[in-house]
Formats: sequence, structure tokens, C-alpha cells
Amino acid sequence: MDGVSSPEAPGSEWWRTAVIYQIYPRSFADRSGDGIGDLPGVTSRLDDLSALGVDAIWLSPFQRSPQKDAGYDVSDYCDVDPIFGTLADFDEMLAQAHARGIRVIVDLVPNHSSDQHVWFRDALAAAPGSPERARYIFRDGKGPQGEEPPNNWESVFGGPAWTRVTEADGTPGQWYLHLFDTSQPDFDWTNDEVRQEFRRILRFWLDRGVDGFRVDVAHGLVKKEGLPDYTPPTDAGSMGGGETAVPYWGQDGVHEIYRDWHELLAEYDGARALCAEAWLPSVAQTALWVRPDEMHQAFNFEYLETPWDAQKLRLVIADSLAGFGAVGAPSTWVLSNHDVVRHASRLALTVENPQGYGIGPRTPGKPDPVVGLRRARAATTLMLALPGSAYLYQGEELGLPEVIDLPDSARQDPTWFRTHGERYGRDGCRVPLPWTADGPSYGFNDTGESWLPQPTQWAAFARDVQRDDPDSTLTLYKTLLAERRARGLGAGQLEWIDGLPEHVVAFRNGSITVVANVGTEPVPLPGGTVVVSSGPVASGILSPDQTVWLAGD
Ligand code: NOJ
Repeated sequence: MDGVSSPEAPGSEWWRTAVIYQIYPRSFADRSGDGIGDLPGVTSRLDDLSALGVDAIWLSPFQRSPQKDAGYDVSDYCDVDPIFGTLADFDEMLAQAHARGIRVIVDLVPNHSSDQHVWFRDALAAAPGSPERARYIFRDGKGPQGEEPPNNWESVFGGPAWTRVTEADGTPGQWYLHLFDTSQPDFDWTNDEVRQEFRRILRFWLDRGVDGFRVDVAHGLVKKEGLPDYTPPTDAGSMGGGETAVPYWGQDGVHEIYRDWHELLAEYDGARALCAEAWLPSVAQTALWVRPDEMHQAFNFEYLETPWDAQKLRLVIADSLAGFGAVGAPSTWVLSNHDVVRHASRLALTVENPQGYGIGPRTPGKPDPVVGLRRARAATTLMLALPGSAYLYQGEELGLPEVIDLPDSARQDPTWFRTHGERYGRDGCRVPLPWTADGPSYGFNDTGESWLPQPTQWAAFARDVQRDDPDSTLTLYKTLLAERRARGLGAGQLEWIDGLPEHVVAFRNGSITVVANVGTEPVPLPGGTVVVSSGPVASGILSPDQTVWLAGD
């Protein structure tokens, strides 16, 4: 039927070694010309992804949504939002991807729905204590008139995590919990109706042929009984993390849900997979989500958050291989996604910037773009040599930096509004892609419309100018992916090489030796033939911020 349905032996399933490319549909390619990317746009660019050499794509939400949080506020889980196309467009995209041997993972948002979901509208229309309200987390407020929220929890996007509703008779009423925006009410996962509904949703997409799900806020579905007060530490970052006792993250009860889903996926052929988006403080904790009967993969955010520091990199790589390996799961690796400052900018920030805060015109310690790109290329060259599965975020193969100078009036992230501009949020990594140096909106569409303005300097990053340039970032990514595949590095074993300067990260994986100079001093290059290098190799010297793969000795 397609290029991806062959059976796979346990231990060699595709997701253990896959390079998975994240498509952020709003910003990938826009066939309709309305300034927002769409599914026909994705289909039209699948040949470019084949040429890049990825194994799978993950699409951020394209389901029906009022788009208050760019699609992470779903009002109908089993339909395509008209701005992205139709279910027929989805089926066509899936078939075309499979025909090219590319697997397709879709986003599932089970922690919360949109406030426009029929269940939430029904809940608002129904009385306190009704079965309709029991699908979400409604509580009476504190204080004589219930005028205080039920507890002190804060929304991840800033401000209180509770909103008070007006009852049908016009009086101020109960409060509902939203860990994110007010438009994203949290489901109550102790309610069996919610569990049944998500089983239905999983089957809906599995029956259409998807290869798996990226599960949004996979650490948040179950809240601690009694909803006790909690004050997060000030440096936790906006997605949470840094704390172990948070009453809304990482509660034991979530694992039962994923065991159930694991069994459901196992009924389907072709090794369908679940990947947890769970911002937890350590690999050891994240590994709990990928025990043999739970999810298959979890994002390695500890790796993403590791600074450009040799000792810290060695440590996180070793911890990841050991931690995920201990439960029989592959480690994953990721440097960028739609929630973080792109790594071509992040790795050159000189002032700490908590996840989700973003950068903008008034941010101190702005990144030097030359240093940022050099480090990003070196970091990716290091990452793609590691055993396990790697995630790429659209545009990183072009070396795109974070867009810093978006005008305030263009910003759309709820974080920006909920913090009254104190945090810029995530728009800077979501700007539509440049495909061609010429033409309206750099080939994103034919009309020049773009939901976020594209910088005037982006012609230089366009895919068409990079395609035939042997030194371009696109060519680097293509070479890395081709060599990774040909040499089976995803299924390899890492063996550390000691005895090099402290600021060097060096290891063997199968037929290659990888050497990364993470310091400020050049180092002599060990012997071997250069297979690929993140920067120009000058007479046996490895420059600062440079990684090479060597073959032979
Ligand atoms: C994580 C998603 O990646 C992010 O974009 C979204 O805002 C939150 N979850 C809420 O769904």
C-alpha cells in the first residue's frame, strides 16, 4: 500500500532511530495564499523533505481550532481546521508522504481543549455539579462569595490559572482551571468519559493511517488530589520544570493513561508510536514516560537546555543514553522546536533566557548571528552523530535565526498578551519559511501575505539559494542525514574518547569518530578522513565551535 507499512521486529522499530522533522503548519508552506500555511502546502513540499533525507514528519496541530494558541486549543479533534484545508487534504498529504517512505506523526492535545469545544460550551450552559461540568475542572471559589480562585496556581503563560464563569442566571459562579490560556480549559482525567473520548480520537487518526502521536503536555493530565496551593520557583521557565513536587506535573496517575494508549496502539500494524512532550527536571524522570509498556519516545528537553559547554554536553549525553537505555527506550535528541528560541540564536545568548520567554528588541545579551550559526552547525553535527532518534524543527536546516525585531503589533503568542509584553514569547521562532530568494514572501505563497512578517534579510537563507551551495547549512544537513543513515548511526553505540582537551567532546559511533570543539581555543585534529565538518577544515586544526566526523584512523 505504501513505503512504510512493513512489519518490524521488536527492538528495531523505525522510531528507535528515526530523524523526525517538525512541521509547524502555519509557517511551512501556504498554497491558499491567505498568509497561513496549510496541508496542501505540506504536500507540495514533500519532495524537498525527501531530498533532505528525513524519516518522518510530525505536524503541530491542524485540527479545528479558534487558534488562540496557534492550534494548541482544539475545538474538534477529528476534523481539519478550514485554514489548513480538509480531511481529504490530510489524507492526500499522508498518502503522498507514505509513498515517499516518510512516516507521519500528528499532535494530540489531551490536557485541555479550546473553550469553543462543544463539551466546554455545554459545561458553561450546565449547572455546577452537572455531568457536563465534570469533564473539566470546575470548582467553587474561596472567600464568602466564592470571589477568590480555588487555589494559587499560575498559568504557564502568566497570570492566574483559574477563570470565574458567569452562571446561566447571570450571577458570578464557579471557576475553571486552565494551566495555559483562559481559552484552554483543562480536562478532568479522573472522568472516564474523557478517557473514552480520547480512545476514540486516537482510533480516528490511527484508522486514517498515521504512524504516531506527539502528546502535548504529557506530564500534566492528572492533578494532585485536593489541588493544593503551589508556588513555583522563579527560575522554572514557562513550560515548568526544575521542581519535582509540582501538583500539576508528573503525577503518578498519568502513567496508567499511557499504558492504556500503548495497548490501543499495539492493536495496529506498523509500529505506531507515542512521543511525550513532558518538561521534567531530569532524564531520569522523563524516562518514566517511556517504560516498556508506556510511550515509545519522550523529548529530551534536558539535552535541548544544555548550554554550549563540553563538560555539560558529555554529562547530558551519558545520562540520556543511560537513563533511557535503562528502560529499553532510545534516547531522543532535539535542539529546536516551536516553543524555544531557535538554536542558531539561543547558543549565542549571553544572558540567561528561560524557556518560553523569547527574545525581542529590548532583550539584554542579544546573540551574535555569526557565532550563533557557527555553534548551531557544530551542535547539529554533534547531535546527528548520536545513537537514538533526533528531532529537527523546520527551518533549522536553513540555519534560520530567531526573529528578534518583530514589531509589537505583529506578536500573537498568548504569552505576550498574558504578561503584558514582559515576555516576548515564541513568535520569533514561528515566522514563515523562506523557500525562494525572489518572489512574494520568499516562496511561502504567491500572494506575499504572511501571518508574521518575514525579515528583509531572509533571501540569503532561502532554500533555493542553499540547494547547490556546497557550504550551505542545507547541504550540511543533507550530508549529515545521508551519512547517518548509510552508517547506521542511529542504531550505533557510543564509545567516549578520552585524553583530549577538556573543551572537546569526542566519541566513536560505529565507523566514525566525532570531535567537537566546544571551547575558544583551536585543537589539533586527530587522524582520519573528514566525512563531514560543520565548518571549513584548515590544515589539521579544529577551530572553536566546530564539529567533524572522521572515518578511518
Ligand atoms: C506545548 C506546546 O508545544 C505549546 O506550543 C503549547 O502552547 C502548550 N503545550 C499548550 O498546549
